[in-house]
Formats: sequence, structure tokens, C-alpha cells
Amino acid sequence: MEIENVKRLLEVNQLKIEKMTSQIMELNDELSNIKLLMLNLERPTLENKENKNEFQDREDEDYSKIGIINNSKTDPNKILPMRYLWAREHYKTGVANNWVPEEIPMQDDVEQWKSDRFLNETERRMIIWNLGFFSTAESLTANNIVLAVYNHVTNPECRQYLLRQAFEEAIHTDTFIYCCDTLGLNPDMIYNMYNTIPSIKEKDNFVIELTKSVFDPNFSTKGKENVRKFLHDLIGYYVIMEGIFFYAGFAMMLALKRQHKMIGIGEQFEFIMRDESIHLAFGCDLINTIKTENPEIWNEEFKNEAIQLIKKAVELEKKYAYDACPQGILGINAEQFCNYVEYIADRRLERIGLLRVYNTENPFPWMSQSTDLSKEKNFFETRVTEYQTAGNLTWD
Ligand SMILES: [Fe+2]
Ligand SMILES: [Fe+2]
Repeated sequence: MEIENVKRLLEVNQLKIEKMTSQIMELNDELSNIKLLMLNLERPTLENKENKNEFQDREDEDYSKIGIINNSKTDPNKILPMRYLWAREHYKTGVANNWVPEEIPMQDDVEQWKSDRFLNETERRMIIWNLGFFSTAESLTANNIVLAVYNHVTNPECRQYLLRQAFEEAIHTDTFIYCCDTLGLNPDMIYNMYNTIPSIKEKDNFVIELTKSVFDPNFSTKGKENVRKFLHDLIGYYVIMEGIFFYAGFAMMLALKRQHKMIGIGEQFEFIMRDESIHLAFGCDLINTIKTENPEIWNEEFKNEAIQLIKKAVELEKKYAYDACPQGILGINAEQFCNYVEYIADRRLERIGLLRVYNTENPFPWMSQSTDLSKEKNFFETRVTEYQTAGNLTWD
């Protein structure tokens, strides 16, 4: 009886911790926005000469004309002195989180996948759908960074981050090659799902359509209309693709892992989610900086357009969630995955300075723990996701 009481107490405390973690994550987002605002306020201008030391080499320039895009005065080969320190911070965090898929053992997953008793049909469908979506979505994202964003963001510290992000997208692409190989899946079937499964196809097409003009070889960010098109691309890839379309899948695969099923794949998704949360943070900082530097484009009409795009993306992601997991999995119904999509969409809206739309409570507070904060794990059973490269560890 006493053991039962202790167990119940532990469960209650665990729930409290998860809820608090989720609140800390929301505060973290707000803090990032405040930090960016402060960095922008501290920007040296001709009137604000006391800050000039950091930017000595550019002292002849008219700082009011220097921007993160459309800045012909930027020498893309000269990274120091730096201007956008948030980009540098994201780069350092990315490097500290280095990992490769082969470090994660898949033997148990292979046994579970081959056994006809371990996974039910609903769980198998959910895994296949997510492998199908992510395997090609990672390449779409990588292409966008290399072929569109890198071209137009000439600031050197942002480009350094984009190179790091491109590397991480290559690692993610590799993860799905590794999963297909180890589980013995048919690559033609998996890599064709973005053509054959309507709920996946619709998500990809939505993002491709949204960003079409930026891929035009003649596209430039000169002029108000083109800066707006470029912001569309950034909202399409960073906020919608990486910030919304990835998250029903993350929640599904991590929910399965919590039930001790397909732990290897679950850990791969955990590592990918940790990387993606930084991609998203960089993307939002980039969007917010362009907004600050080009305030005339961020008018009510464009804000409303961005909200409508995000609402449409939420509908598509919910449709995908129902399609991938129509019956839900043990203890979680399909509706909760949809609630989670609404919850994270609100956070993305706030991160780029827009008002919440849904006000939905987070049904999975444990997701925040998986992404960002330390959790206790048995290092000998599984690699901790918070593992960082030796050079980045601090010793007390
Ligand atoms: Fe990725
Ligand atoms: Fe990404």
C-alpha cells in the first residue's frame, strides 16, 4: 500500500515537473525575443558612436544603411568584427550538439520491427508515415538553405550558421538512410511517399508553392515586394516546415519511445528535434531582424497573411496527424496530437511577434524536456541526448 502511495506521489511530481518545464520553455522564447530586441537596440548607428569599438573597421560606413539583406557593403569573406551575435550563438550551440546516426544502436528496433507481436498495425503505420515524410522533407529543407537562403543572406556570421545548418540537414538525411537500411525497408516506397500519400504531398506542396518565387534564378531581394517574398520563404521553411510540419511526427515518435518501443529511432528523432529547435530559433531571429530593419513591409496586411499561412499549415498538419495515426496510440488519441500542433503554432506565432490564435494547452509537457532541458538517463543504457562534445563541457 505504501509503495502505491509513493508511486502516485512520484507520478504527481513528474507531472508537475513536466508542466514547469513547458512553462520554462515558453519563458525561454520570450527571453530570446527580448535579447534580440536588445541586440537591435544596441546596434551602432552614426548617432551612437560609443559602440564603435566593436565595429572599428566599418567606422566610415553609414550604419543605418547596413542590413542583414541587401547590403552591398558587406564583405562576405570578412566575418570579424561580428554584428549579429545571435547567429554566432546558434552556431556554437549547433556545434556543441554534434552527433551522427550510427552512434545510436538499432538492434532492439530491428528485433521489434521483425517480430509480429511487438508492434500493432497502428504503430507500424505511424512509423512508416513519419519515415516517409521526414526522409524527403530533410532534403527539401537542405535545398532551400543552400539554393535560396544562403544566396540572399550575405552577412558572414549568418552564413557560417547556414553552413552548419546545411551540415545538420545532411546528418538528418543520413539518419533516414540508416533507418531504412537497418529495418530493411523498401526505399522506393519510403522515398515516394511524398508523391503517393496525399497528406504528405499536401504539406510539401504547400511549402514549395509558398517559396516558389525565391527559387527563380533571377530573384533578388531588392525592393519592398521582394523582401516580402523572401520573408514568405523564411516563414515557409523555418516557421512552417521546421516549426510546425515536423512536430506531430516528433510527438508521435517520442510518445512511442516513452512506451519503450523503437527506442533507437525515437532517439534519432530526439536528436533531430534538438537540432531543429535551433534551426527554428535561428530562422525566427533572422525573420525578426529583417522585420526590424524593414519595418515598412511588416504591416497589418502582411501580418494577417502570415497568420493565415500558419493557420492553413496547422490544418494540414492536423490532417497529417489523423492520417498517420488515426486510432492514436496507447493512452494518446489522435485529437491530442492535433492539440499539440495548435499549441506549438501559438508559440511560433508569438516568436515572430504575432498574437496567439488557438490558446490550446500543451497536452504533452514531456516534449519540452525531450528538446531542451537536462534529464536523467542511464548513460550505459542509452546515450544522453544532452551529450555535448568534450570541448564544450564545463567542469565544476
Ligand atoms: Fe533537419
Ligand atoms: Fe532543419
